[in-house]
Amino acid sequence: MTSLTLSNVKKHFGKVDVIRGVDLSVEDGEFVVFVGPSGCGKSTLLRMISGLEDISSGELRIGHRIVNETPPARRGVAMVFQSYALYPHLNVRDNMGFGLKVRKVPAGERARRVGEAARTLKLEPLLDRFPRELSGGQRQRVAIGRAIVGNPEVFLFDEPLSNLDAELRVHMRSEIAALHKRLGNTMIYVTHDQIEAMTLADKIVVLREGLVEQVGTPRELYERPGNLFVAQFIGSPKMNILPIDAAAGAWPGRPAGAAHVGMRPEDLKLTDPGAGLIGGKVLLSEYTGASSLLHVELPGGEVFLVGCEGCAIDAGTAVGLTIAPDRLHFFDDAGRRAS
Ligand SMILES: Nc1ncnc2c1ncn2[C@@H]1O[C@H](COP(=O)(O)OP(=O)(O)O)[C@@H](O)[C@H]1O
Ligand SMILES: [Mg+2]
Repeated sequence: MTSLTLSNVKKHFGKVDVIRGVDLSVEDGEFVVFVGPSGCGKSTLLRMISGLEDISSGELRIGHRIVNETPPARRGVAMVFQSYALYPHLNVRDNMGFGLKVRKVPAGERARRVGEAARTLKLEPLLDRFPRELSGGQRQRVAIGRAIVGNPEVFLFDEPLSNLDAELRVHMRSEIAALHKRLGNTMIYVTHDQIEAMTLADKIVVLREGLVEQVGTPRELYERPGNLFVAQFIGSPKMNILPIDAAAGAWPGRPAGAAHVGMRPEDLKLTDPGAGLIGGKVLLSEYTGASSLLHVELPGGEVFLVGCEGCAIDAGTAVGLTIAPDRLHFFDDAGRRAS
């Protein structure tokens, strides 16, 4: 049973504070995803958990043990990197078994575990190949296999699919989800990919500049973002935000202190000019197949993104926009959710 707890964990490189005080608990068997803009500290935090990076202050527990000073190999974690980090001169079998060999696991036991991982990951036909003879997806599967054979309590993934093409990413994403289901291990997964985060996570941790902005299920973050940053970070295309005083008219459901209103592109509906809650002029219509994305300029000059299915609207057309009142998001002048 392996939970993780981070208490006021910090990291500085020289004078630069990179992780500025993170509190987080990860439950046994949970799939937790770290997301956030590039440079916010996702990899650093993961490396601190793995032991590849020292913790400057605070406390990290894996299970009941404080592991701040525990070497990586004794933390019960295995990490999978974006770069795969395979040994080029070893074949798949030896790449997967390498860590076990270092730990002096007997050959028979090693072969058994590698065989089992190869079966799980459908790598059996590839065991004698070298990394250069594998596709990107196969290499990543070997990297995951190498993590599995060590029988870790916690898997750490740092953007493991970022080097793969779009189709393979989708495929590997479902493989990782299936793997989590089968193994039931605690997993922490770093990505900057929205869809990966939303589809894989039991719990998403949104990081920004070394701090946690919000922790919640994908649905919680999407339905009730706690602040403007999360509101615009989760969801694609991103939420439209309007300063509330700039917008004429009463806003249904507006709570006291609201200074901004947010509307997701997919929640806005087209209506006749003058008839909606707001209105504007279509600047651009981007056709993407199943749906289109309209860029609509409001009277105040703001440009809203509006999703619509099967619509074909010329630039220059005036449109009205409506939205269900319960799909409005309000934020105060400090950017916090107001409701
Ligand atoms: N070894 C290091 N020395 C100095 N600064 C570092 C080091 N590693 C990372 N950083 C800095 O820490 C910040 C967070 O980096 P990182 O954790 O890699 O971000 P992310 O994975 O979210 O893109 C960045 O500003 C990066 O430049
Ligand atoms: Mg990173």
